[in-house]
Amino acid sequence: MGGVERGFHISFEGIDGSGKTTLSTNLYLKFKEKGYPCFYTVEPTFMRVGSLIRLHASRIKNVPQYYMALLFAADRVEHYERVIKKKLEKGYHVISDRYVHSSIAYQGGLLNDIEWVRTINNRVPLPDLAIYLDISPDKALSRKKASGLFDDVTLLAKIREAYLSLVEKGEIVMVNAEKPFEDVFREVIEIIKSRLHIDL
Ligand code: TMP
Repeated sequence: MGGVERGFHISFEGIDGSGKTTLSTNLYLKFKEKGYPCFYTVEPTFMRVGSLIRLHASRIKNVPQYYMALLFAADRVEHYERVIKKKLEKGYHVISDRYVHSSIAYQGGLLNDIEWVRTINNRVPLPDLAIYLDISPDKALSRKKASGLFDDVTLLAKIREAYLSLVEKGEIVMVNAEKPFEDVFREVIEIIKSRLHIDL
């Protein structure tokens, strides 16, 4: 008997306030509505290291990015090994609200050391498809309700630049997220349909 066909791993990326969570949760609901096995997950996680990261994010300012990069990478290894890999093997499509490219763009961009961030993340595979929601830092900050780790136009511009360098390399697919939600959602659906050849 043949095994279950492995699921497809899609990650959503973008600066804080790009609308990634709304989009990825709506996509998850769309997959479910169409009857596809699907799993939605976020990073940082709520597991051991992820919880430590969340504690830093809410209480501690000015944590060195080298330290944060190592925590994000450790959280990701646990997340991949314990959750993502298993779901994919069981045939679930996995939708990640942030994954490896968040570390490459945030810590890699802020440290000007993308290659080191890639190296510490090489224990997990890249996603099958990474969709990057592009938005200007000004617009992103005006959209955000809660405050976050990187609420600064200059920092967000640097992170955006790192994401754009990944777009240029063809590693992530860019969608203009400044358009109305319905348009952005439709564009994302078309990209996924063209890669996965499924009815959405
Ligand atoms: P969120 O706003 O999507 O919940 O993400 C939490 C914050 O953590 C956000 O400011 C981006 C940041 N982050 C990194 O800096 N590196 C990473 O690898 C991940 C996953 C998140």
